[in-house]
Amino acid sequence: LISVYDYVRCFQVIGRDITERKQAEKELIRLSTAIRTTSDSVVICDPEFKIVDCNDAALQIYGTKNKNDLVGKNCFDFLAPEEVELALKDKDELMKKGFLRGREYRAFKKNCEIFPVEVSISLMKDKNNELTGFVTVTRDISERKKLEESVRLSEEKYRTLVENIDIGIFRNTGIDGKIIEVNRGWLKIFGYSSKKEVLGKNVIEVYCDPEDRKELNKKMVNKGFVKNMEVNLRKKDGTPFIGSITAVTIKDDKGNIKYYDCVIEDITERKNTENALWRKNKLILKKNRELHKAMKELKSAQNMLIQSEKMASIGTLAAGVAHEINNPLSYVSSNIKYIKKYVEKMENFIKELPEVFSKFPFYSEFSSEFQKIKNSYKIDFILEDLTSAINESIEGAERVKKIVQDLKSFSHPVVESMSYANINEGIETTLNIVWNELKYKAEVKKELGDLPEVYCNIQKLNQVFMNILVNAAQAIENHGIIKIKTYVKGENVFIEISDTGCGIPEKNLHKIFDAFYSTKEIGKGTGLGLSIAQKIIKEHSGIINVKSKVGKGTTFTIRIPVNGGKVK
Ligand SMILES: Nc1ncnc2c1ncn2[C@@H]1O[C@H](COP(=O)(O)OP(=O)(O)O)[C@@H](O)[C@H]1O
Ligand SMILES: [Mg+2]
Repeated sequence: LISVYDYVRCFQVIGRDITERKQAEKELIRLSTAIRTTSDSVVICDPEFKIVDCNDAALQIYGTKNKNDLVGKNCFDFLAPEEVELALKDKDELMKKGFLRGREYRAFKKNCEIFPVEVSISLMKDKNNELTGFVTVTRDISERKKLEESVRLSEEKYRTLVENIDIGIFRNTGIDGKIIEVNRGWLKIFGYSSKKEVLGKNVIEVYCDPEDRKELNKKMVNKGFVKNMEVNLRKKDGTPFIGSITAVTIKDDKGNIKYYDCVIEDITERKNTENALWRKNKLILKKNRELHKAMKELKSAQNMLIQSEKMASIGTLAAGVAHEINNPLSYVSSNIKYIKKYVEKMENFIKELPEVFSKFPFYSEFSSEFQKIKNSYKIDFILEDLTSAINESIEGAERVKKIVQDLKSFSHPVVESMSYANINEGIETTLNIVWNELKYKAEVKKELGDLPEVYCNIQKLNQVFMNILVNAAQAIENHGIIKIKTYVKGENVFIEISDTGCGIPEKNLHKIFDAFYSTKEIGKGTGLGLSIAQKIIKEHSGIINVKSKVGKGTTFTIRIPVNGGKVK
């Protein structure tokens, strides 16, 4: 205020508090700095979406340095054409809600490159609640999208791998067993058509035997896994099959079981093949054993053949020898008979001499001389001895003749013909042949009954008797008795041959008629004798039985129907 004297008298000072304004300015600066420096694009537009302003990040995202490339343009111009429709829908929502968060669009850069963005928009209103525009915050999400895509691709890769593999893969909630994921392989194995049918079901439903599941749970809890565990499972339609399960437990942070992740395979076919293979193998082993046995038997048969070949040639030889012996034997025996007659005559002559001489003189001298000579030559003794020697020779020759005859008939090749024959005679003939085998071993006692003639092949029956008699002699260690008894009972003839030999243990009794069963050393036994005997007796519709006691002896009994050979 200036006084009249034109000097300043005083100052009038008007003060206003601008703290608030300063504060507001500060805030404004801070905010605009924040908007300018943020890496997200911030664009402000008017109610018609015409861009009014933007920050540097917006220029950078849209690939320009010139703000005029954005300002004045419509926001929609920066959207890819196919996004406009969606954006218009979003606009309606924006107007209703007042904001939009995290919308994804594809946008244009200045160089026409399309890129993905995430947009959040808010309405701007004045004090009177009138719409003044929008704030759009946009973020370039190319990197994120790329990452997401690669995650998706990798996830898809594994998903298709898991889905398309021909093995069943599934996850359940562990001990509870609720199925929460299965692959196509699983559906195929179990015969389900969609996952919907399966998810949520309890895995126990596919087990044939709940015990199997219990067993699996036990292992999963104790060890945390199972490997190729074989279980009996069933398909949707109930068909059972054998599954092989491999599974691991998945645990949470606290160590509680969350899931079982399992792989399952249908191994029915493999099992069947394995079983078939196993059966085949067993069969091969059996066949192998049989082959071995057959080979052994073949070897024995070969030995036997050699032996019987030998026997056959001995037989032929014997027949020849018998024939050769027969000739000289017949003249020896007829000569002996003549000699006997001649000797008788000579004896008579000598006896008559003293009487003849007594009629002549000098008789007494002669008589004593004669007696002297007679004594010195032991004529009386000779005459006596000669007679018995001749008788013995005749008997011997008879015996030789009989043996030769038997030998001849025995060594004859067997003829396949039957006729009526006397069994007792057969036994006698056989005894003659085997006498040499028996005489040092046993006293042979015969009790041969009155038998009718039997319709049979006597040569073959003789072979049976021979084997039984030889067996009997071989069973006697030092000296014993062999008894032969024959009798008739009804329509049957019985032949009993018993010995006081070593006997046969009960456990071997059923084996003795088996071909090649022999307890004798090679060369002594072929094991064929009794098996052939049984065959021959069967041909006569008869039976052969054995009774034996170890240490006591053995009795073979043969029964043949009188018309045995005919009945056959
Ligand atoms: N009288 C018997 N006493 C004891 N064992 C016998 C008698 N007869 C047969 N055996 C037993 O039966 C087996 C079979 O007899 P066999 O078939 O004649 O064959 P091999 O006499 O060649 O051994 C003999 O090895 C022997 O062990
Ligand atoms: Mg024998």
